[in-house]
Amino acid sequence: MSSTAKTIIRTYDNYINGQWVKSSSGEMFPVYDPSTEEMIAQVSSGTAADVHSAVKAARAAFDSGPWRQTTAADRGRILYKLAEKIRANAAQLAELECRNSGKPIVEAEYDIADAATCFEYYAGLANKVLGHVNPVPANALSFTLREPVGVAGQIIPWNYPLVMASWKLAPAIAAGCTCVLKPAEQTPLTVMEVASWSEELGFPPGVVNIVNGFGETTGAALVAHPGVDKIAFTGSAAVGKMIVKSAADTLKRVTLELGGKSPNIFFDGADWEAAVDGALFGVFINQGEVCSAGSRILVEKKIYSKFLEAMTEKAKRIKLGAPLERETKMGPLVSKEQYDRVSSYVELGKKEAKVAIGGGRPKQFSKGFYVEPTIFYDVDNSARISREEIFGPVASVIPFEGEPDAIRIANDTPYGLAAAVWTRDIYKAFRVVKSLRAGIVWVNHMQPTYVEAPWGGYKQSGFGRELGPWGLEEYLETKQVFVNLDETPIGWY
Ligand code: NAI
Ligand code: MG
Repeated sequence: MSSTAKTIIRTYDNYINGQWVKSSSGEMFPVYDPSTEEMIAQVSSGTAADVHSAVKAARAAFDSGPWRQTTAADRGRILYKLAEKIRANAAQLAELECRNSGKPIVEAEYDIADAATCFEYYAGLANKVLGHVNPVPANALSFTLREPVGVAGQIIPWNYPLVMASWKLAPAIAAGCTCVLKPAEQTPLTVMEVASWSEELGFPPGVVNIVNGFGETTGAALVAHPGVDKIAFTGSAAVGKMIVKSAADTLKRVTLELGGKSPNIFFDGADWEAAVDGALFGVFINQGEVCSAGSRILVEKKIYSKFLEAMTEKAKRIKLGAPLERETKMGPLVSKEQYDRVSSYVELGKKEAKVAIGGGRPKQFSKGFYVEPTIFYDVDNSARISREEIFGPVASVIPFEGEPDAIRIANDTPYGLAAAVWTRDIYKAFRVVKSLRAGIVWVNHMQPTYVEAPWGGYKQSGFGRELGPWGLEEYLETKQVFVNLDETPIGWY
Protein backbone atom coordinates (compact mmCIF):
# COMPACT_ATOMS: atom_id res chain seq x y z
CA MET A 1 0.00 0.00 0.00
CA SER A 2 1.27 3.42 -0.82
CA SER A 3 1.92 6.21 1.60
CA THR A 4 4.02 9.32 1.33
CA ALA A 5 5.75 10.85 4.31
CA LYS A 6 4.62 14.32 3.31
CA THR A 7 0.89 13.85 3.11
CA ILE A 8 0.61 10.57 5.07
CA ILE A 9 -2.55 9.84 3.15
CA ARG A 10 -2.66 6.14 2.52
CA THR A 11 -4.73 4.56 -0.21
CA TYR A 12 -6.28 1.12 -0.08
CA ASP A 13 -8.09 -0.86 -2.74
CA ASN A 14 -10.23 -3.90 -2.12
CA TYR A 15 -8.68 -7.33 -1.67
CA ILE A 16 -10.46 -9.79 -3.95
CA ASN A 17 -9.24 -13.20 -5.09
CA GLY A 18 -5.72 -12.48 -3.88
CA GLN A 19 -5.46 -9.22 -5.84
CA TRP A 20 -5.78 -5.52 -5.00
CA VAL A 21 -8.70 -4.30 -7.02
CA LYS A 22 -10.02 -0.78 -7.61
CA SER A 23 -13.71 -0.08 -7.26
CA SER A 24 -15.66 -0.84 -10.44
CA SER A 25 -17.05 2.69 -10.11
CA GLY A 26 -13.56 4.16 -9.68
CA GLU A 27 -14.82 5.91 -6.55
CA MET A 28 -12.93 6.23 -3.29
CA PHE A 29 -14.14 7.42 0.09
CA PRO A 30 -12.21 9.32 2.77
CA VAL A 31 -11.17 7.95 6.16
CA TYR A 32 -10.50 10.37 9.02
CA ASP A 33 -8.57 10.81 12.23
CA PRO A 34 -11.47 11.74 14.55
CA SER A 35 -9.21 13.70 16.92
CA THR A 36 -8.00 16.13 14.22
CA GLU A 37 -10.85 15.66 11.70
CA GLU A 38 -8.16 15.30 9.02
CA MET A 39 -8.35 12.79 6.22
CA ILE A 40 -5.75 10.06 6.70
CA ALA A 41 -6.67 7.58 3.98
CA GLN A 42 -8.69 7.00 0.84
CA VAL A 43 -10.32 3.67 0.25
CA SER A 44 -11.87 2.13 -2.86
CA SER A 45 -15.63 2.09 -2.46
CA GLY A 46 -16.96 -1.39 -3.17
CA THR A 47 -19.95 -1.63 -5.52
CA ALA A 48 -22.44 -4.47 -5.92
CA ALA A 49 -20.27 -5.64 -8.83
CA ASP A 50 -17.19 -5.70 -6.56
CA VAL A 51 -19.14 -7.68 -3.95
CA HIS A 52 -20.16 -10.07 -6.72
CA SER A 53 -16.49 -10.56 -7.76
CA ALA A 54 -15.53 -11.24 -4.15
CA VAL A 55 -18.37 -13.73 -3.59
CA LYS A 56 -17.51 -15.44 -6.89
CA ALA A 57 -13.90 -15.78 -5.76
CA ALA A 58 -14.91 -17.05 -2.32
CA ARG A 59 -17.38 -19.47 -3.91
CA ALA A 60 -14.72 -20.85 -6.31
CA ALA A 61 -12.15 -21.13 -3.51
CA PHE A 62 -14.67 -23.05 -1.44
CA ASP A 63 -16.25 -25.20 -4.17
CA SER A 64 -13.23 -26.11 -6.26
CA GLY A 65 -10.08 -24.50 -4.88
CA PRO A 66 -7.30 -26.12 -2.86
CA TRP A 67 -8.79 -24.81 0.41
CA ARG A 68 -11.14 -27.76 0.88
CA GLN A 69 -8.16 -30.14 0.60
CA THR A 70 -6.26 -28.45 3.43
CA THR A 71 -6.28 -30.24 6.73
CA ALA A 72 -7.59 -28.57 9.84
CA ALA A 73 -4.02 -28.60 11.14
CA ASP A 74 -2.86 -26.70 8.01
CA ARG A 75 -5.49 -24.05 8.56
CA GLY A 76 -4.48 -23.84 12.19
CA ARG A 77 -0.86 -23.24 11.18
CA ILE A 78 -1.84 -20.36 8.89
CA LEU A 79 -3.90 -18.80 11.68
CA TYR A 80 -1.04 -19.22 14.09
CA LYS A 81 1.34 -17.45 11.69
CA LEU A 82 -1.21 -14.66 11.37
CA ALA A 83 -1.37 -14.28 15.16
CA GLU A 84 2.42 -14.11 15.37
CA LYS A 85 2.64 -11.57 12.55
CA ILE A 86 0.09 -9.35 14.32
CA ARG A 87 2.24 -9.55 17.46
CA ALA A 88 5.39 -8.70 15.52
CA ASN A 89 3.63 -5.62 14.08
CA ALA A 90 1.66 -4.74 17.21
CA ALA A 91 3.10 -1.26 17.74
CA GLN A 92 2.34 -0.05 14.19
CA LEU A 93 -1.11 -1.64 14.19
CA ALA A 94 -1.98 -0.11 17.57
CA GLU A 95 -0.93 3.31 16.36
CA LEU A 96 -3.01 2.97 13.19
CA GLU A 97 -6.04 1.70 15.17
CA CYS A 98 -5.64 4.59 17.60
CA ARG A 99 -5.43 7.22 14.87
CA ASN A 100 -8.32 5.83 12.86
CA SER A 101 -10.79 5.12 15.70
CA GLY A 102 -9.81 7.79 18.24
CA LYS A 103 -9.47 5.27 21.07
CA PRO A 104 -6.63 5.85 23.56
CA ILE A 105 -3.35 4.23 22.49
CA VAL A 106 -3.19 2.05 25.60
CA GLU A 107 -6.61 0.59 24.76
CA ALA A 108 -5.57 0.15 21.12
CA GLU A 109 -2.55 -1.87 22.30
CA TYR A 110 -4.86 -4.17 24.27
CA ASP A 111 -7.07 -4.54 21.21
CA ILE A 112 -4.22 -5.61 18.94
CA ALA A 113 -3.06 -8.14 21.53
CA ASP A 114 -6.65 -9.43 21.80
CA ALA A 115 -6.93 -9.83 18.04
CA ALA A 116 -3.70 -11.88 17.99
CA THR A 117 -5.01 -14.00 20.87
CA CYS A 118 -8.24 -14.68 18.99
CA PHE A 119 -6.40 -15.92 15.88
CA GLU A 120 -4.15 -18.01 18.10
CA TYR A 121 -7.11 -19.52 19.96
CA TYR A 122 -8.82 -20.66 16.75
CA ALA A 123 -5.47 -21.86 15.37
CA GLY A 124 -5.44 -24.32 18.24
CA LEU A 125 -9.13 -25.19 18.00
CA ALA A 126 -9.12 -25.93 14.24
CA ASN A 127 -8.12 -29.58 14.58
CA LYS A 128 -10.13 -30.31 17.70
CA VAL A 129 -13.47 -30.40 15.87
CA LEU A 130 -14.98 -33.84 16.39
CA GLY A 131 -18.01 -35.70 15.07
CA HIS A 132 -20.10 -38.32 16.87
CA VAL A 133 -20.88 -41.97 16.44
CA ASN A 134 -24.62 -42.32 16.90
CA PRO A 135 -26.06 -45.36 18.75
CA VAL A 136 -28.24 -46.83 15.98
CA PRO A 137 -29.07 -50.59 15.77
CA ALA A 138 -26.24 -53.10 15.41
CA ASN A 139 -26.74 -53.72 11.67
CA ALA A 140 -25.90 -50.10 10.83
CA LEU A 141 -23.38 -47.41 11.52
CA SER A 142 -24.26 -43.73 11.90
CA PHE A 143 -21.83 -40.91 12.43
CA THR A 144 -21.66 -37.18 11.94
CA LEU A 145 -19.24 -35.14 9.86
CA ARG A 146 -18.66 -31.53 10.76
CA GLU A 147 -18.31 -29.49 7.58
CA PRO A 148 -17.79 -25.79 6.90
CA VAL A 149 -20.94 -23.73 6.23
CA GLY A 150 -19.41 -22.39 2.99
CA VAL A 151 -18.98 -18.75 2.03
CA ALA A 152 -19.29 -16.45 5.03
CA GLY A 153 -20.30 -12.80 4.55
CA GLN A 154 -19.08 -10.80 7.54
CA ILE A 155 -20.00 -7.23 8.42
CA ILE A 156 -18.29 -5.47 11.32
CA PRO A 157 -18.51 -2.16 13.20
CA TRP A 158 -15.95 0.54 13.99
CA ASN A 159 -15.63 0.37 17.78
CA TYR A 160 -13.10 -2.50 17.87
CA PRO A 161 -12.00 -2.74 14.23
CA LEU A 162 -9.30 -5.41 14.26
CA VAL A 163 -10.78 -7.30 17.22
CA MET A 164 -14.12 -7.57 15.41
CA ALA A 165 -12.36 -8.75 12.26
CA SER A 166 -10.57 -11.44 14.29
CA TRP A 167 -13.80 -12.63 15.95
CA LYS A 168 -15.28 -13.10 12.47
CA LEU A 169 -12.36 -14.36 10.37
CA ALA A 170 -10.62 -16.67 12.86
CA PRO A 171 -13.46 -19.17 13.51
CA ALA A 172 -14.56 -19.09 9.85
CA ILE A 173 -11.08 -19.95 8.62
CA ALA A 174 -10.58 -22.59 11.31
CA ALA A 175 -13.85 -24.23 10.18
CA GLY A 176 -12.71 -24.23 6.54
CA CYS A 177 -15.07 -21.53 5.26
CA THR A 178 -14.09 -18.82 2.82
CA CYS A 179 -14.84 -15.19 3.70
CA VAL A 180 -15.99 -11.89 2.29
CA LEU A 181 -15.54 -9.31 5.03
CA LYS A 182 -16.84 -5.75 4.94
CA PRO A 183 -15.11 -3.51 7.49
CA ALA A 184 -16.91 -0.47 8.86
CA GLU A 185 -16.50 2.45 6.47
CA GLN A 186 -15.12 4.60 9.31
CA THR A 187 -12.30 2.21 10.30
CA PRO A 188 -10.96 -0.08 7.58
CA LEU A 189 -7.25 0.59 7.99
CA THR A 190 -5.88 -2.09 10.35
CA VAL A 191 -7.94 -4.78 8.63
CA MET A 192 -6.49 -3.77 5.25
CA GLU A 193 -2.94 -3.91 6.64
CA VAL A 194 -3.55 -7.44 7.89
CA ALA A 195 -5.21 -8.45 4.60
CA SER A 196 -2.04 -7.38 2.80
CA TRP A 197 -0.23 -10.33 4.43
CA SER A 198 -2.62 -12.97 3.08
CA GLU A 199 -0.48 -14.37 0.30
CA GLU A 200 2.69 -14.44 2.39
CA LEU A 201 0.82 -16.29 5.16
CA GLY A 202 -0.32 -18.95 2.71
CA PHE A 203 -3.99 -18.17 2.12
CA PRO A 204 -4.95 -19.39 -1.35
CA PRO A 205 -6.65 -16.70 -3.51
CA GLY A 206 -10.33 -16.21 -2.72
CA VAL A 207 -10.21 -17.55 0.84
CA VAL A 208 -10.12 -14.11 2.45
CA ASN A 209 -11.67 -11.22 0.53
CA ILE A 210 -12.13 -7.72 1.92
CA VAL A 211 -14.57 -5.35 0.26
CA ASN A 212 -14.81 -1.85 1.68
CA GLY A 213 -17.77 0.43 1.43
CA PHE A 214 -21.00 1.63 2.97
CA GLY A 215 -23.72 -0.38 4.62
CA GLU A 216 -26.64 0.47 2.38
CA THR A 217 -24.69 -0.44 -0.75
CA THR A 218 -21.75 -2.79 -0.17
CA GLY A 219 -23.16 -4.37 3.01
CA ALA A 220 -26.66 -4.82 1.62
CA ALA A 221 -25.27 -6.39 -1.60
CA LEU A 222 -23.33 -8.92 0.46
CA VAL A 223 -26.39 -9.84 2.56
CA ALA A 224 -28.60 -10.27 -0.53
CA HIS A 225 -26.07 -12.25 -2.60
CA PRO A 226 -27.26 -15.80 -3.36
CA GLY A 227 -23.66 -17.09 -3.35
CA VAL A 228 -23.25 -16.35 0.37
CA ASP A 229 -24.20 -19.15 2.78
CA LYS A 230 -24.03 -17.28 6.05
CA ILE A 231 -23.98 -13.70 7.34
CA ALA A 232 -22.26 -12.79 10.59
CA PHE A 233 -23.03 -9.24 11.69
CA THR A 234 -22.10 -6.96 14.56
CA GLY A 235 -23.72 -3.55 14.70
CA SER A 236 -26.99 -1.77 15.37
CA ALA A 237 -30.28 -3.53 16.10
CA ALA A 238 -31.92 -1.54 13.28
CA VAL A 239 -29.51 -2.94 10.68
CA GLY A 240 -29.73 -6.41 12.29
CA LYS A 241 -33.47 -6.43 11.61
CA MET A 242 -32.91 -5.39 7.97
CA ILE A 243 -30.35 -8.16 7.57
CA VAL A 244 -32.72 -10.84 8.84
CA LYS A 245 -35.41 -9.67 6.40
CA SER A 246 -33.03 -9.58 3.44
CA ALA A 247 -31.41 -12.91 4.31
CA ALA A 248 -34.85 -14.54 4.41
CA ASP A 249 -35.04 -14.44 0.60
CA THR A 250 -32.15 -16.87 0.28
CA LEU A 251 -32.55 -18.45 3.75
CA LYS A 252 -28.98 -17.74 4.72
CA ARG A 253 -27.80 -18.62 8.15
CA VAL A 254 -27.50 -15.44 10.22
CA THR A 255 -25.75 -14.64 13.48
CA LEU A 256 -26.18 -11.21 15.02
CA GLU A 257 -24.41 -9.36 17.79
CA LEU A 258 -26.41 -6.20 18.28
CA GLY A 259 -26.44 -3.49 20.86
CA GLY A 260 -27.45 -3.35 24.45
CA LYS A 261 -28.52 -1.21 27.36
CA SER A 262 -26.73 -3.27 29.93
CA PRO A 263 -27.48 -2.86 33.66
CA ASN A 264 -24.61 -2.51 36.11
CA ILE A 265 -26.16 -3.21 39.53
CA PHE A 266 -24.71 -2.00 42.85
CA PHE A 267 -25.95 -3.30 46.22
CA ASP A 268 -25.29 -1.82 49.62
CA GLY A 269 -22.22 -3.54 51.08
CA ALA A 270 -20.34 -3.96 47.77
CA ASP A 271 -16.59 -3.32 47.92
CA TRP A 272 -16.80 0.47 47.74
CA GLU A 273 -13.66 1.50 45.84
CA ALA A 274 -13.96 -1.38 43.37
CA ALA A 275 -17.63 -0.60 42.80
CA VAL A 276 -17.10 3.11 42.09
CA ASP A 277 -14.30 2.22 39.69
CA GLY A 278 -16.39 -0.49 38.09
CA ALA A 279 -19.35 1.82 37.49
CA LEU A 280 -17.11 4.26 35.57
CA PHE A 281 -15.06 1.64 33.75
CA GLY A 282 -18.23 -0.22 32.75
CA VAL A 283 -19.64 2.73 30.82
CA PHE A 284 -16.70 4.99 29.90
CA ILE A 285 -14.12 2.56 28.53
CA ASN A 286 -13.57 3.10 24.78
CA GLN A 287 -15.56 6.41 25.07
CA GLY A 288 -18.61 4.29 25.83
CA GLU A 289 -18.58 2.96 22.27
CA VAL A 290 -19.06 -0.57 23.55
CA CYS A 291 -21.93 -2.96 22.81
CA SER A 292 -21.83 -4.24 26.41
CA ALA A 293 -21.48 -0.76 27.99
CA GLY A 294 -22.94 -0.66 31.50
CA SER A 295 -24.98 2.38 30.54
CA ARG A 296 -27.73 1.82 33.14
CA ILE A 297 -26.15 2.11 36.57
CA LEU A 298 -28.63 0.72 39.10
CA VAL A 299 -27.81 1.74 42.68
CA GLU A 300 -29.54 0.61 45.88
CA LYS A 301 -31.29 3.54 47.60
CA LYS A 302 -29.34 3.11 50.85
CA ILE A 303 -26.06 4.04 49.12
CA TYR A 304 -27.45 6.04 46.18
CA SER A 305 -26.44 9.59 47.12
CA LYS A 306 -23.00 8.70 48.40
CA PHE A 307 -22.30 6.45 45.42
CA LEU A 308 -23.40 9.08 42.90
CA GLU A 309 -21.18 11.63 44.62
CA ALA A 310 -18.16 9.30 44.62
CA MET A 311 -18.68 8.42 40.96
CA THR A 312 -19.02 12.06 39.98
CA GLU A 313 -15.86 13.05 41.89
CA LYS A 314 -13.87 10.30 40.25
CA ALA A 315 -15.29 11.00 36.78
CA LYS A 316 -13.85 14.54 37.02
CA ARG A 317 -10.41 12.94 36.84
CA ILE A 318 -11.00 11.11 33.54
CA LYS A 319 -8.31 12.50 31.27
CA LEU A 320 -9.59 13.44 27.86
CA GLY A 321 -6.85 14.00 25.35
CA ALA A 322 -5.13 13.19 22.09
CA PRO A 323 -5.53 9.45 21.48
CA LEU A 324 -1.81 8.93 20.93
CA GLU A 325 -0.85 10.35 24.34
CA ARG A 326 -0.30 7.59 26.86
CA GLU A 327 -2.07 9.39 29.75
CA THR A 328 -5.26 9.80 27.73
CA LYS A 329 -8.17 7.84 29.18
CA MET A 330 -10.83 9.08 26.76
CA GLY A 331 -10.50 10.10 23.13
CA PRO A 332 -12.98 11.52 20.63
CA LEU A 333 -15.94 9.59 19.25
CA VAL A 334 -15.28 7.82 15.98
CA SER A 335 -17.08 10.19 13.59
CA LYS A 336 -19.08 13.36 13.17
CA GLU A 337 -22.17 11.19 12.73
CA GLN A 338 -21.60 9.46 16.08
CA TYR A 339 -20.77 12.79 17.76
CA ASP A 340 -24.07 14.23 16.52
CA ARG A 341 -26.02 11.14 17.58
CA VAL A 342 -24.53 11.09 21.09
CA SER A 343 -24.84 14.87 21.48
CA SER A 344 -28.53 14.70 20.65
CA TYR A 345 -28.99 12.07 23.38
CA VAL A 346 -27.12 14.32 25.81
CA GLU A 347 -29.56 17.15 25.00
CA LEU A 348 -32.50 14.77 25.42
CA GLY A 349 -31.09 13.61 28.75
CA LYS A 350 -31.08 17.15 30.08
CA LYS A 351 -34.87 17.15 29.61
CA GLU A 352 -35.42 13.65 30.97
CA ALA A 353 -33.15 13.69 34.04
CA LYS A 354 -30.61 15.63 36.11
CA VAL A 355 -26.94 16.11 35.15
CA ALA A 356 -24.28 15.15 37.71
CA ILE A 357 -21.33 15.85 35.42
CA GLY A 358 -20.66 16.57 31.77
CA GLY A 359 -23.41 17.35 29.33
CA GLY A 360 -21.57 18.82 26.39
CA ARG A 361 -18.43 19.29 24.40
CA PRO A 362 -15.23 19.69 26.42
CA LYS A 363 -14.04 23.29 26.08
CA GLN A 364 -10.34 22.52 25.68
CA PHE A 365 -10.66 21.04 22.17
CA SER A 366 -11.18 23.18 19.11
CA LYS A 367 -11.16 20.10 16.87
CA GLY A 368 -12.14 16.48 17.20
CA PHE A 369 -15.38 14.68 18.03
CA TYR A 370 -14.99 14.87 21.82
CA VAL A 371 -17.91 14.51 24.23
CA GLU A 372 -17.59 15.00 27.99
CA PRO A 373 -18.14 11.94 30.16
CA THR A 374 -21.74 12.56 31.18
CA ILE A 375 -23.65 11.15 34.14
CA PHE A 376 -27.42 11.60 34.37
CA TYR A 377 -29.09 10.74 37.68
CA ASP A 378 -32.57 10.19 39.05
CA VAL A 379 -33.29 8.69 35.66
CA ASP A 380 -36.48 6.75 35.19
CA ASN A 381 -36.01 3.39 33.49
CA SER A 382 -38.74 4.37 31.02
CA ALA A 383 -36.82 7.44 29.81
CA ARG A 384 -35.43 7.19 26.30
CA ILE A 385 -31.89 7.62 27.64
CA SER A 386 -32.51 4.46 29.69
CA ARG A 387 -34.01 2.47 26.84
CA GLU A 388 -32.03 3.37 23.72
CA GLU A 389 -28.42 2.52 23.04
CA ILE A 390 -26.41 5.76 23.03
CA PHE A 391 -22.95 4.33 22.27
CA GLY A 392 -21.02 7.19 23.80
CA PRO A 393 -19.79 8.29 27.25
CA VAL A 394 -23.25 8.73 28.73
CA ALA A 395 -24.55 6.98 31.86
CA SER A 396 -28.03 6.82 33.39
CA VAL A 397 -27.98 6.34 37.16
CA ILE A 398 -31.22 4.76 38.40
CA PRO A 399 -32.11 4.14 42.06
CA PHE A 400 -33.71 0.86 43.23
CA GLU A 401 -35.14 -0.49 46.47
CA GLY A 402 -34.08 -4.09 47.21
CA GLU A 403 -33.28 -7.16 45.12
CA PRO A 404 -36.63 -7.80 43.33
CA ASP A 405 -36.76 -4.14 42.25
CA ALA A 406 -33.20 -4.33 40.90
CA ILE A 407 -34.03 -7.46 38.88
CA ARG A 408 -37.26 -5.97 37.56
CA ILE A 409 -35.56 -2.78 36.35
CA ALA A 410 -32.53 -4.63 34.98
CA ASN A 411 -34.71 -6.90 32.84
CA ASP A 412 -37.09 -4.15 31.75
CA THR A 413 -35.34 -3.51 28.41
CA PRO A 414 -35.68 -4.85 24.88
CA TYR A 415 -32.00 -5.78 24.99
CA GLY A 416 -30.15 -8.59 26.76
CA LEU A 417 -26.47 -8.54 25.92
CA ALA A 418 -24.71 -8.11 29.26
CA ALA A 419 -25.17 -7.24 32.93
CA ALA A 420 -23.09 -6.96 36.07
CA VAL A 421 -23.83 -7.26 39.77
CA TRP A 422 -21.72 -5.95 42.65
CA THR A 423 -22.18 -7.36 46.15
CA ARG A 424 -20.27 -9.26 48.82
CA ASP A 425 -23.35 -11.41 49.52
CA ILE A 426 -22.75 -14.63 47.59
CA TYR A 427 -26.39 -15.80 47.94
CA LYS A 428 -27.69 -12.57 46.51
CA ALA A 429 -25.06 -12.50 43.75
CA PHE A 430 -26.07 -15.87 42.31
CA ARG A 431 -29.81 -15.29 42.76
CA VAL A 432 -29.43 -12.15 40.67
CA VAL A 433 -27.21 -13.91 38.11
CA LYS A 434 -29.93 -16.52 37.56
CA SER A 435 -32.68 -13.90 37.26
CA LEU A 436 -30.99 -11.68 34.66
CA ARG A 437 -31.99 -12.15 31.03
CA ALA A 438 -28.60 -11.46 29.47
CA GLY A 439 -25.96 -13.43 27.57
CA ILE A 440 -23.03 -12.32 29.71
CA VAL A 441 -23.17 -11.61 33.46
CA TRP A 442 -20.20 -10.36 35.43
CA VAL A 443 -19.98 -10.51 39.23
CA ASN A 444 -17.93 -7.76 40.89
CA HIS A 445 -16.47 -6.64 37.55
CA MET A 446 -17.63 -5.37 34.20
CA GLN A 447 -16.24 -5.85 30.67
CA PRO A 448 -13.45 -8.43 30.95
CA THR A 449 -13.77 -10.54 27.80
CA TYR A 450 -11.86 -13.71 27.08
CA VAL A 451 -11.72 -15.52 23.79
CA GLU A 452 -12.27 -18.84 25.60
CA ALA A 453 -15.75 -17.84 26.86
CA PRO A 454 -18.94 -17.29 24.82
CA TRP A 455 -20.16 -13.85 23.78
CA GLY A 456 -23.64 -12.93 22.57
CA GLY A 457 -27.05 -11.71 23.58
CA TYR A 458 -30.58 -12.62 24.64
CA LYS A 459 -33.68 -10.83 23.33
CA GLN A 460 -33.03 -8.02 20.82
CA SER A 461 -29.27 -8.15 21.37
CA GLY A 462 -29.15 -10.82 18.70
CA PHE A 463 -28.64 -14.53 18.31
CA GLY A 464 -25.77 -16.96 17.99
CA ARG A 465 -22.59 -16.88 20.03
CA GLU A 466 -19.06 -15.80 19.20
CA LEU A 467 -15.77 -16.88 20.79
CA GLY A 468 -14.80 -20.20 22.31
CA PRO A 469 -16.04 -23.44 20.74
CA TRP A 470 -19.48 -21.75 20.40
CA GLY A 471 -18.02 -19.31 17.89
CA LEU A 472 -16.67 -22.14 15.73
CA GLU A 473 -19.99 -24.03 15.88
CA GLU A 474 -21.67 -21.15 14.02
CA TYR A 475 -19.45 -21.85 10.98
CA LEU A 476 -20.10 -25.61 10.90
CA GLU A 477 -22.82 -27.79 9.40
CA THR A 478 -23.58 -31.27 10.69
CA LYS A 479 -23.82 -34.10 8.16
CA GLN A 480 -25.33 -37.34 9.33
CA VAL A 481 -23.93 -40.39 7.57
CA PHE A 482 -25.80 -43.71 7.73
CA VAL A 483 -24.10 -46.91 6.63
CA ASN A 484 -26.06 -50.09 6.11
CA LEU A 485 -24.09 -53.12 7.32
CA ASP A 486 -26.81 -55.62 6.45
CA GLU A 487 -26.63 -57.14 2.94
CA THR A 488 -30.22 -58.48 2.87
CA PRO A 489 -32.59 -56.51 0.59
CA ILE A 490 -35.12 -54.18 2.23
CA GLY A 491 -37.89 -56.49 0.97
CA TRP A 492 -40.67 -53.91 1.30
CA TYR A 493 -42.19 -54.31 -2.21
P1 NAI B 1 -24.50 0.22 11.76
O1 NAI B 1 -25.22 -0.95 12.32
O2 NAI B 1 -25.19 1.03 10.71
O3 NAI B 1 -23.09 -0.25 11.13
C1 NAI B 1 -22.40 -1.42 11.47
C2 NAI B 1 -21.91 -2.11 10.20
O4 NAI B 1 -23.04 -2.46 9.40
C3 NAI B 1 -21.04 -1.23 9.30
O5 NAI B 1 -20.07 -2.02 8.66
C4 NAI B 1 -22.03 -0.71 8.28
O6 NAI B 1 -21.45 -0.33 7.05
C5 NAI B 1 -22.93 -1.92 8.10
N1 NAI B 1 -24.27 -1.64 7.60
C6 NAI B 1 -25.01 -0.51 7.79
N2 NAI B 1 -26.18 -0.61 7.14
C7 NAI B 1 -26.19 -1.81 6.53
C8 NAI B 1 -27.13 -2.49 5.70
N3 NAI B 1 -28.30 -1.94 5.37
N4 NAI B 1 -26.83 -3.72 5.24
C9 NAI B 1 -25.66 -4.30 5.57
N5 NAI B 1 -24.73 -3.70 6.33
C10 NAI B 1 -24.99 -2.47 6.82
O7 NAI B 1 -24.07 1.13 12.96
P2 NAI B 1 -23.64 2.69 12.92
O8 NAI B 1 -24.53 3.43 12.00
O9 NAI B 1 -22.20 2.77 12.70
O10 NAI B 1 -23.93 3.10 14.42
C11 NAI B 1 -25.28 3.35 14.84
C12 NAI B 1 -25.55 2.78 16.19
O11 NAI B 1 -25.45 1.37 16.11
C13 NAI B 1 -24.57 3.16 17.29
O12 NAI B 1 -24.89 4.39 17.87
C14 NAI B 1 -24.76 2.01 18.24
O13 NAI B 1 -25.89 2.23 19.03
C15 NAI B 1 -25.03 0.83 17.33
N6 NAI B 1 -23.80 0.02 17.12
C16 NAI B 1 -23.66 -1.13 17.85
C17 NAI B 1 -22.49 -1.87 17.74
C18 NAI B 1 -22.27 -3.12 18.53
O14 NAI B 1 -21.14 -3.45 18.82
N7 NAI B 1 -23.28 -3.89 18.86
C19 NAI B 1 -21.39 -1.45 16.88
C20 NAI B 1 -21.67 -0.25 16.11
C21 NAI B 1 -22.83 0.44 16.25
MG1 MG C 1 -25.69 3.00 10.36
